[in-house]
Amino acid sequence: MSENKSTPPITEQEISRRAFFNKLGMGSLGVAAVGTLGFTYRFLSPNVLYEASPIVNAGKPEGYPIDSVTLDVNSAIYLVHLEEGFLSLNAICTHLGCMTAWKPELGIIACPCHGSKFSREGQKLAGPAPKPLPWLKTWLSDDGDIMVDRSTTIRPFEFLRI
Ligand code: FES
Repeated sequence: MSENKSTPPITEQEISRRAFFNKLGMGSLGVAAVGTLGFTYRFLSPNVLYEASPIVNAGKPEGYPIDSVTLDVNSAIYLVHLEEGFLSLNAICTHLGCMTAWKPELGIIACPCHGSKFSREGQKLAGPAPKPLPWLKTWLSDDGDIMVDRSTTIRPFEFLRI
């Protein structure tokens, strides 16, 4: 007598198990596809840092009386108005990078870290700083605002005359 080798009838329980594994497989494929898309997007997008613009709008010249030294802490620049014109200085000490401070009672720019001192034109007067404070490119915009480019240094004593 031969044994019946045909496939046994599928029960309700087996159908639900099969459906479960089908759904599990499709879900896994979906997760893998989303992950692949995420990695592809990260791979194709430029790997750059978005930094603030080096251009600073310092406002109207009338805001700076003659013989004034104004520190903008946020952009780390001094705007100095002298008889000869305007100049802007990088306020970061050339020794080890501390933020300097204007000392009106002494008429100097001083570094609190190791005692370097600079004139209001940025020239080194004392201390371990190896270089003067750099002059920054400064110009007047079409709207009449003083603009400073923190990324561009110029030769000292090139005043902005208005
Ligand atoms: S960081 Fe200014 S003197 Fe050292």
